[in-house]
Amino acid sequence: MVNLTHINKTKKAYSESENSLLFLGIFQDKKLNPQQRTLDDTLGNRLSAAMKLDGFIGKKEEQIHIFGNEVNKRVVLIGLGTQKNYTSDRARSVASNITRFSTDVKNADFSVDGDSFALKKNIFAQAFAEGLVLGSYEFNDYKTKKDDSVKASSITMYGKVDAKSLDKGAILGASVGFARDLGNHPANILTPTYLARTAQKISDNSPKMNCQIFDGKEFKKMGMGAFHGVAMGATEPAKMIIVEYNGGRKTQKPIALVGKGLTFDSGGISLKPPPNMDEMKFDMCGSATVMGVLQAVSELKPKINIVFAIGSTENMPGSNAQRPGDIVTAYNGKTIEVLNTDAEGRLVLADVLSYVNKNYEPTAILDFATLTGAVLVALGNRASGVLGNNNTLMKEVKKASEVSSEKVWELPLWEEYTREIKGKYADIKNIGEARLAGTITAGAFLKEFVDDTPWVHMDIAGTAWGPKEPSYQPKVGATGVAVRLVYQLLENRI
Ligand code: BES
Ligand code: MN
Ligand code: ZN
Repeated sequence: MVNLTHINKTKKAYSESENSLLFLGIFQDKKLNPQQRTLDDTLGNRLSAAMKLDGFIGKKEEQIHIFGNEVNKRVVLIGLGTQKNYTSDRARSVASNITRFSTDVKNADFSVDGDSFALKKNIFAQAFAEGLVLGSYEFNDYKTKKDDSVKASSITMYGKVDAKSLDKGAILGASVGFARDLGNHPANILTPTYLARTAQKISDNSPKMNCQIFDGKEFKKMGMGAFHGVAMGATEPAKMIIVEYNGGRKTQKPIALVGKGLTFDSGGISLKPPPNMDEMKFDMCGSATVMGVLQAVSELKPKINIVFAIGSTENMPGSNAQRPGDIVTAYNGKTIEVLNTDAEGRLVLADVLSYVNKNYEPTAILDFATLTGAVLVALGNRASGVLGNNNTLMKEVKKASEVSSEKVWELPLWEEYTREIKGKYADIKNIGEARLAGTITAGAFLKEFVDDTPWVHMDIAGTAWGPKEPSYQPKVGATGVAVRLVYQLLENRI
């Protein structure tokens, strides 16, 4: 969870207020600003003396910790690098370092000189708030030893800052934290039923939302044979979760956000090898992204219509599990040979994508899935793979990704790749040729289920957990990837 969710703004001057720990930003080769100079005066020039002594000139990653007086007890100077190279992502990581520093020195309430971090500007203010909140993220739900560490509990923000962007950033940071929590819970706790109840709860508290839960027992008669096939091996009930959010005009068609929610992926009969199989509790991180956006939307209430959709089940071997070679019929009528039961995410998404496409006629579909190990081979954990059928939508994704600093890299979906998934006995098969273009053939498979609706698929198998950088990423576990990206994209559409 994130320990910090709110930023208190004040018009007072920090040199006249009491602060137990105050953070000041300094751009490279820039002098102290007037208020910083006043503070320096009241501290008997201790700031300027420390800067001189340390040779501090405000380079990025430079930092000095100074003990002050009774009023401003400690002051930390943070080098921001040159003003020209200051970006929102720098603001985001500096901010998360600030929260962590405060926690490390066992200080719960800290203060920030907003002017010196350029928080008058909306993009800096939003990113800075995201970083402050994300820096307070930790996941200790299952540790029984009493945690007596100090937790960051409140921030006082001084100066002329964009208050609205700060608040938005704090909500987005908390929504990312919420998505991380979902990812980090183990599969024996976070079941499809748990996910469904969580979505239902958010929806119940939002007048503009409406939630529908379909149980796995209904899939077959609904025509969702592909999802049904995956769910067969598990005793834990499968769920399809749909939340409609009506923030826009009544007649406006929605944008659809679809998530892969495999609460555990053992591989099924095509069982995975034991090493790291525990990490397959993260196979629901696509759905965590969708849930994180759901949470953000419930608070920020953007004026747009959205349909959130999650396909959730375990993929287990069992006497009733589907077999390699089985042929299933998806919601859009296409038949699929299941040649590898471990390529299950695409089977679940096949039905959820075609269900959403048919029943909501969305203007665009975005899906999020920990779909292939191959995307790790291609991109490592620095970027998500993106593939789609529409250039305009792809551009929207890339543009939003630049703002959120969550890297995406496009892979091609040329028609040739579709040939690789042509079935021998059925229309298509659920794998391409072994070891070749795995992320692309998975994308080519999904493409069969969205017709001509503009669609982008994001393969987050490398980014949903694992990345430890920049500093606002968690030390362990799920990252909540793309929650911020998607919210930005939604906002760009309004
Ligand atoms: N959930 C996995 C993909 C995955 C693997 C994510 C490793 C993160 C780390 C997915 O269901 C899967 O098993 N994909 C197979 C597909 C193959 C059988 C064609 C894979 O990537 O090996
Ligand atoms: Mn799998
Ligand atoms: Zn999977």
